[in-house]
Amino acid sequence: MKKSVSKKPTKQIYKNYTKEDFKVWNILFNRQLKNLEGIVADEFIIALKDLNFKAEKIPNFIEVNNTLKNITGWSIKTVPNISPPEQFFSFLSRKKFTTTCWLRSMNQIDYLEEPDMFHDVFAHVPLLSNKDYTNFFKEIGEIAVSVINDPVKLKKLQRIYWFTIEFGLIKRNNDFKIYGAGIISSKEESQNVLSSKSKKKKFDVNTIMNHSFRIDVVQDIYYYIDSFEELTSSINEIRKNINI
Ligand SMILES: [Fe+2]
Repeated sequence: MKKSVSKKPTKQIYKNYTKEDFKVWNILFNRQLKNLEGIVADEFIIALKDLNFKAEKIPNFIEVNNTLKNITGWSIKTVPNISPPEQFFSFLSRKKFTTTCWLRSMNQIDYLEEPDMFHDVFAHVPLLSNKDYTNFFKEIGEIAVSVINDPVKLKKLQRIYWFTIEFGLIKRNNDFKIYGAGIISSKEESQNVLSSKSKKKKFDVNTIMNHSFRIDVVQDIYYYIDSFEELTSSINEIRKNINI
């Protein structure tokens, strides 16, 4: 049977958020910030403040875009569901990050079938105010656009995306700190990441490009960088590895 077409909003209409939406945002925000205490990268906490993200208020995209425009020139583009790769990377290459604007319901607070705005906005958007991070992000978008019709090369690039933007760690004074959005927005991942059960490996373009991942389990291996500049510096190697 054909899956029913999503009725998810394509544009953020702020007055349409319900009391339940505000409650869901509030609970997730406070809970996750507590889970991240001391284990998330300082840059993320600073960025949350710069963007004025707080538990009491679902972010208003117009305000977020105005702030981002002045810092890095990035903006968020609302989409109803996760974007197909062609659209997603094309927007990235133009300094736009596609995000949803709907929230999970209260009775699904711990269960997420597909990324909602708590993942997209809380976890991804703050670092769009970080210059080194966004330089890398834009380059990934540009490279992906140029290999969009080559499934092998695209898969290699998606692995880089997965182990940095979604599940990346950064090393600070011998401690691992989280910057990947897939960890930032997930209770399970943020608890798993620093346990001895998961392995931490040094970021390496070639290794990551050959590391297939699963999206349906918590990760058992994470890759760490020493600085966000390291991501930008890896772009030449990424291009070389996929021959572009
Ligand atoms: Fe994500």
